[in-house]
Amino acid sequence: MEMAEIGLIGLGTMGAMLALNIAEKGFRIAVYNRTTSVTRQFAAEAGDLAPRIVPTESLEAFVAAIKPPRAIILMVPAGPVVDDQIAALKPLLGPDDLIIDAGNANFHDTNRRAAAASGYRFLGMGVSGGEEGARHGPSIMGGGEKADWDRVAPVLEAISAKYQGIPCATWMGPGGAGHFVKAVHNGIEYADMQMIAEIYGVMRDGLGMEAAEIGAVFEEWNQGPLQSYLIEISAAVSKAVDGDAPMLDVILDKAGQKGTGRWTVIEAQNLAAPIPVIEAAVMARNVSARLAERQAGEAAFGAAPMALAKGALHLKTLEQAMIAGKILCYAQGFALIVAASREFGWNLPLPAIARVWREGCIIRSSMLNDMATALEENPERGLMLAPFFADHLRAASPGLRQVVSVGAAQGLPLPALSAGLAWFDMMRTARGTANMIQAQRDFFGAHGFERLDKPGQKDLHGPWGGHMV
Ligand SMILES: NC(=O)c1ccc[n+]([C@@H]2O[C@H](COP(=O)([O-])OP(=O)(O)OC[C@H]3O[C@@H](n4cnc5c(N)ncnc54)[C@H](OP(=O)(O)O)[C@@H]3O)[C@@H](O)[C@H]2O)c1
Repeated sequence: MEMAEIGLIGLGTMGAMLALNIAEKGFRIAVYNRTTSVTRQFAAEAGDLAPRIVPTESLEAFVAAIKPPRAIILMVPAGPVVDDQIAALKPLLGPDDLIIDAGNANFHDTNRRAAAASGYRFLGMGVSGGEEGARHGPSIMGGGEKADWDRVAPVLEAISAKYQGIPCATWMGPGGAGHFVKAVHNGIEYADMQMIAEIYGVMRDGLGMEAAEIGAVFEEWNQGPLQSYLIEISAAVSKAVDGDAPMLDVILDKAGQKGTGRWTVIEAQNLAAPIPVIEAAVMARNVSARLAERQAGEAAFGAAPMALAKGALHLKTLEQAMIAGKILCYAQGFALIVAASREFGWNLPLPAIARVWREGCIIRSSMLNDMATALEENPERGLMLAPFFADHLRAASPGLRQVVSVGAAQGLPLPALSAGLAWFDMMRTARGTANMIQAQRDFFGAHGFERLDKPGQKDLHGPWGGHMV
């Protein structure tokens, strides 16, 4: 039988769709799944693509069905399952055979697996776009040896989303670089979603709008600077109905997470890179999950008034707030990538990252194309200071300020938008307040400080020697 050009293990939601996508692009693919009935059903339902799919029922048969040097995609749950799968494959592979972990691995695990790869090659690959993306074109962020990426790039570029014909599949750097970029993508995804949810809350609880009206607003915004997949689906979910009721109105307000947003926040803390909008978004999901505590809180303190006086906020102002929040969130996300790039010596390609997110992934948006251009001009400058985005922020930040202040006054919780505004205000304040922190630290711990009037001199102390502990 003709051998497969590539193999895939794990025919779950993502793996099955990715395998069909690969077959559709003309590549012969061997597939294997722990539960054999899933493999059989997958092959039976592959329709026109079945001739390019080689279903196998043992790892030995799977490996034997792939043309050497082999390329094998793993699409199994992140964590120990990946290690187990690698261990099971290892004795069957040759030194040039390549394992590609396409799940949502923690990049530290990918670094470890890349370093431990001996007797086979290893790539870590972030894939975004959910089920639909996997089937028709995901955004792909690769990490590992460039030569290994180049070997499989023709397949990955063929199956990836295209932005004006350009594949959204890019090698990011060595080891866990691809999975790191995917984690930041997911952190930004959390933040984008949270800011939309906050603006939705202002419309629902502040302006008393019905879900369908809110959907119409999102639909309109999707024609402007906020054009994005997440705004588009927010319009769709707002307009959806379940019988007579808006679907949104019967969905429990308790959000889950699988951990990638949390990883982004943990890594940002490790790198001392401020990403408050993403942190607030992860925090908000955790708060949402504490439903019983929120109910007890409302019983104890009463719900905040929330309702806004007529004319207190215009929809245009909400759109401006969302634009400003989004720019600030991405500025933080890219700054985190710069920090990681320096720390790990990765030399991550910032403009290419913005480009790879333009299509296929959950955070795809028209703004990302402008971000790619701004980052090409000067990757080190910080997105907020790029002239294009600085102009946008000058125009949109007053709207963000108005929404956050009106929200605070009426008790509308806006954690991500508020965090964005506070960061913006800190980042435009040359003389901040950390002189007080430094004085306090020196008072209780003799940590020392620098003085404005004695530049260059370090480790100076205040006149509070007697009070030191
Ligand atoms: N779903 C998404 O939107 C999305 C997006 C991007 C990335 N990802 C990532 O992609 C990966 C796969 O996600 P998914 O949503 O496709 O998961 P899924 O639907 O739960 O499928 C998991 C697959 O892994 C197999 N598997 C589970 N435990 C196993 C084990 N102990 N040993 C061997 N095989 C095992 C399952 O086989 P059985 O049939 O035998 O159970 C199944 O084929 C995850 O890392 C996920 O985080 C998911």
